[in-house]
Amino acid sequence: MAKIAVLGYGVVGSGTVEVLYKNKANLEKKAGQELEIKYILDLRDFPDSPYKDKFIKDFDTILNDPEVSVVVEVIGGIDPSYNYVKSSLLAGKSVVTSNKELVARKGAELLAIAREKGVNFFFEASVGGGIPIIRPLHQCLSANTIDEIAGILNGTTNFILTKMIRDNMSFDTALKIAQELGYAERNPSADVDGLDTCRKICILTSLAFGKHVYPDNIHTEGITKITPEDVAYCENFGGSIKLIGWAAKQEDDKVAIMVCPAFIHEDSQLAGVNDVFNAILVRGDSTGDVVFYGKGAGKLPTASAVVADIVIAVKMDKSSKSLYWEDSDQDFIEDTENITVANYLRVLDSDKKKIESIFGEVTYLTRKGAPENELAFITEPMSEKQCALNIKTLCDGSASLLGRIRVLEY
Ligand code: HSE
Repeated sequence: MAKIAVLGYGVVGSGTVEVLYKNKANLEKKAGQELEIKYILDLRDFPDSPYKDKFIKDFDTILNDPEVSVVVEVIGGIDPSYNYVKSSLLAGKSVVTSNKELVARKGAELLAIAREKGVNFFFEASVGGGIPIIRPLHQCLSANTIDEIAGILNGTTNFILTKMIRDNMSFDTALKIAQELGYAERNPSADVDGLDTCRKICILTSLAFGKHVYPDNIHTEGITKITPEDVAYCENFGGSIKLIGWAAKQEDDKVAIMVCPAFIHEDSQLAGVNDVFNAILVRGDSTGDVVFYGKGAGKLPTASAVVADIVIAVKMDKSSKSLYWEDSDQDFIEDTENITVANYLRVLDSDKKKIESIFGEVTYLTRKGAPENELAFITEPMSEKQCALNIKTLCDGSASLLGRIRVLEY
């Protein structure tokens, strides 16, 4: 029998316990042994819970119990999760987590400890909620060199953007609904400022390229500056605005990584991904594009990924060889100013002649009710550095920049 400890009885923790007991018989067949949650660690009391006898408040009880072979960390954040996870691995227990911040910041170190101790550190639920993406990336797609990854990786922002586009809803109203539905993080900044997406693309990139990518080094923009005017121009462009975390191998073997809202053409498989759904496009050199789609947030979808990791963890008697990346000094990450993309720009008090003299050939967009002194256009691809210089030249006089959104092709 495998004995499991669950750290944290919040949304994902309670979902994990629920899914494990709901499907216990079936899961035990897959695991080849009985599964029992021995402890649930939480500071709060749950006197009415059917699992009330399992609750404890002292982590050391779990750490010092040799019967516990798998620790499930679903508390979130770094403190105390990092210490709990690290000490569990050092004690020879496998760890399953949904904690993307922990994996994005400490993944290389924790994977190395797991390998040294012959146990596993699994985190399928950290990216894409219920969508299988971690295991497909390091197992099913392992014959490929990964050229590119692009994902709608945050359900909350995709939900907000969908509401803004479909229902003409304001950003604030849509955010409030997302929070009521339990999609948003406690601090919505992690969602709307792009940090959550950044952590997830860092995890995928680390796995795909075998070197740790730390979130602090990645240019990250959120969706707070998107306006109904931008939404209208994007409709004229023939696409949707999506918050994309993307990574692309460059000719010099460096990897360009960025998190930004982007115009995505309606022909793209990512354009039709709406509401809380996530999608991750992986471009392999043999497969071409493969797209993973599903519920990227929520109690049961995320618990589904956690429980699947538990089942695999109890079956394995050594560390995974393929779920691994090394620590890195980040020298393989392309300087942001060299990253080359097309841009949508919206400007006030400029003129077409000046715009074209600075940006060269551009495609103008229109929207109903635009003031006469407003112009919106799409540029050809150019480096971030060049684009910033061009904007500065354009806005030297009376013209001002009202909005800039990158245009990505997938
Ligand atoms: N807040 C996250 C999201 C939860 O909206 O996608 C899942 O990581």
